[in-house]
Amino acid sequence: MACGITPRHATSPPPCLQNITDSPTSPRLGSPAVSLARAWPGVVFPTETRFQLNSAPDGGKVLLTMAYNSLYDKSQYYDIVFERDVSQEINFVRQVFAHHMGRPLESVLELACGPGYHTVAFAEAGLRAIGLDLQSEMLNVARDKAGSRGVEASWLEADMTDFSLEEPVDAVVSMFDGITVLPTLDLLIANFQAVARNLKPGGLYILDHMHPRDQSPADYGTLYWSGERDGVFVELIWPVNRPEIDLQTSTITVEVELRVTKNGAQEVYRDTATERVFILPQEFEMLARLSGVFRPLAYYGNFLLDQPLDFSARSTQMIIVLQKTS
Ligand SMILES: C[S@@+](CC[C@H](N)C(=O)[O-])C[C@H]1O[C@@H](n2cnc3c(N)ncnc32)[C@H](O)[C@@H]1O
Repeated sequence: MACGITPRHATSPPPCLQNITDSPTSPRLGSPAVSLARAWPGVVFPTETRFQLNSAPDGGKVLLTMAYNSLYDKSQYYDIVFERDVSQEINFVRQVFAHHMGRPLESVLELACGPGYHTVAFAEAGLRAIGLDLQSEMLNVARDKAGSRGVEASWLEADMTDFSLEEPVDAVVSMFDGITVLPTLDLLIANFQAVARNLKPGGLYILDHMHPRDQSPADYGTLYWSGERDGVFVELIWPVNRPEIDLQTSTITVEVELRVTKNGAQEVYRDTATERVFILPQEFEMLARLSGVFRPLAYYGNFLLDQPLDFSARSTQMIIVLQKTS
């Protein structure tokens, strides 16, 4: 094997994984996400190898099994792993809006905002920004983040399939695959309709999703993220088992592990997560048409106005821009 798994006290992946992270085809540029399958091209990882990842190298490990899809309760730990600079994404959303609408973006709602990285950055850029999430724990982290940066944003604890804003907004965004938490077509259509109800006439719905090459059910791969803050080292491994793929519902169910190391002891939270996979861009287009409230406007392959969605190395995302039809 060319290189090992990141040592659990390290704060960054080993050099071979960093190369992958820095490559233009990495699933998430700028974040420490790496695909182990891509780190060792051509090497097939059997289930047993993945399970070896679960063995802590020393004692003090406590295994905690979490309720289904409850990983997002661990908002402080999520934030340690995923806090990142999203300025390029913010600039892109503003440019896309100005490009298609011929006026500047003034108000925006971020769905499934988690710790509010984008909402806070939109507010910092002077926009009226609202972050929506199902989990109060996530919104508490987001509120603290806005407060510590001295910016004002609004926060809404709600389900993104049914919500009401006090005033409609220019654009709604779903970043970092936020939409994949909705597993059924009914929930997705309910989401599209709720978004349209809260958009101004002709407003935009912008969905940032991973590139189709990074979500093949046939080669799901393994993603590893890590981060450290104030002596707390957190790792997220997704998945630690062989994913269960349900082709008929387009969902993948995986076991994931959040490892938290502090004061020399390690807690391991294991959870089951189900996510929807979108493999073809036209799935979004069909949903838009089915919802009766959106029309497809454009696709982009990165947070760059001049990058179309294609199979080039520079196209790392699948970004869909929909426009409200009325
Ligand atoms: C992958 S995280 C995305 C976080 C954030 N957008 C980011 O960039 O890091 C998914 C988020 O979706 C939220 N979520 C899950 N189901 C939801 C729902 N039905 N409505 C609103 N938020 C939901 C979770 O609480 C979690 O914060």
